Amino acid sequence: MAGIHFFFRAQKYLVLFGALYVALVLLLTVPYFQSHALYLNAVKIPLFADFDVPERYGLAPNRTLNLRITTPDNETLGAWFILSNTYYSSLQSIPGDISNHIIPALKEHPVVLFFHGNAATRAFSARVQHYQAFSTRLGANVLAVDYRGFADSTGKPSEAGLTRDARAAFDWLVAHGKKAEDILVVGHSLGTGVSGQLGAELAAEGVKCKGIVLLSPFSSIESVLETYNMFGFIPLMKPISIIPGAAQIVKRALVHRFDTLQVVPNITASVLIAHAENDWDIPDSHSDVLFHAFLEPHLPPLSLPTNPFSVTPEEWELISSQRHLRAAKRRDFVESYVLPNFGRVDSFAEGKRRVVLVKTLAGGHDYLGVQEGLVDIIGKTFVV
Ligand SMILES: *[C@@H]1O[C@H](CO)[C@@H](O)[C@H](O)[C@H]1NC(C)=O
Ligand SMILES: *[C@@H]1O[C@H](CO)[C@@H](O)[C@H](O)[C@H]1NC(C)=O
Ligand SMILES: *[C@@H]1O[C@H](CO)[C@@H](O)[C@H](O)[C@H]1NC(C)=O
Repeated sequence: MAGIHFFFRAQKYLVLFGALYVALVLLLTVPYFQSHALYLNAVKIPLFADFDVPERYGLAPNRTLNLRITTPDNETLGAWFILSNTYYSSLQSIPGDISNHIIPALKEHPVVLFFHGNAATRAFSARVQHYQAFSTRLGANVLAVDYRGFADSTGKPSEAGLTRDARAAFDWLVAHGKKAEDILVVGHSLGTGVSGQLGAELAAEGVKCKGIVLLSPFSSIESVLETYNMFGFIPLMKPISIIPGAAQIVKRALVHRFDTLQVVPNITASVLIAHAENDWDIPDSHSDVLFHAFLEPHLPPLSLPTNPFSVTPEEWELISSQRHLRAAKRRDFVESYVLPNFGRVDSFAEGKRRVVLVKTLAGGHDYLGVQEGLVDIIGKTFVV
């Protein structure tokens, strides 16, 4: 009897859980909730951060300037400028007024413009480790901005807004004497969507940057919904796909798309894509898809059967010979090597432009980009 009782109770909870889940997913079709779920900008970690005191989050005394950048549409963004460690160490004493050092540090050393992922702020520990890796191992200055609606920045996030913020930060560096073609743009997670949009915008205006690094990227928010794993193990959209049409409704309601895959043809800068094989938030297949999209124009075309349900022998032969040609071209064109215990690198060049895919064995989602091995490959790719 007790067993049956338990069975009915468990079933009741399952129904309740299912109903809550459906309600949660349907809430995602409401732009207000969708925006909060995607950007998670209300999650201000670390709590009650004092951005004026970067030392509290692990950076050396007076190495970081807390500053504000104004966007053309009059939002104010909180940002940190972290002096190149090479520059900082070469000083005779700890600088008094850091703002006097920005222009000389930018003149003498490279710069990384860093766009972080969703949730939390520029003071979040994993991000501070990114700044440290770039500024010590590459000797680069780092500009890290909090998008509108994040941290102490004003406004509300949106796809167009974040792209505008990225451009404002880029232009801030140019205004402080850095040539556009010497700015290395690095995006992480959501920041890769922002970097992709910025890359397309710069290319459209004929502005060259040093390159774009996409750390733990996604191909588009729509495909993240299909593959994103909540807490690493609940595939968000899988259960709802049982209800006919429900997944379509949610996808159609997407207002923030960040479709990097779609802007791949627009981007003319060199690109390095990196992903950890043990990324449980965004699977590394997203990086394969992006790398392939950059590669596709260099491969011989592949025809599709006129009717996929009845392929003629001639069509079959044509398609399989095309597939062989493509595979051969890919082998010739893409240079690949394995770094034992670290990962694998695929790359190709077209003139001066390079496209690189790095798959690391470790690093997870948040910490991809702090590994010395990856930072070194970034440095070599862009001759930082
Ligand atoms: C920009 O915002 C400030 C206050 O945040 C306000 O004083 C100013 O008038 C605004 N300017 C424009 C052009 O909207
Ligand atoms: C750091 O800079 C501030 C001014 O911004 C200055 O008052 C302070 O003395 C500096 N710290 C050190 C250790 O020199
Ligand atoms: C990408 O290029 C296409 C075709 O030139 C253009 O219509 C589109 O607006 C561009 N996208 C972005 C984000 O710049």
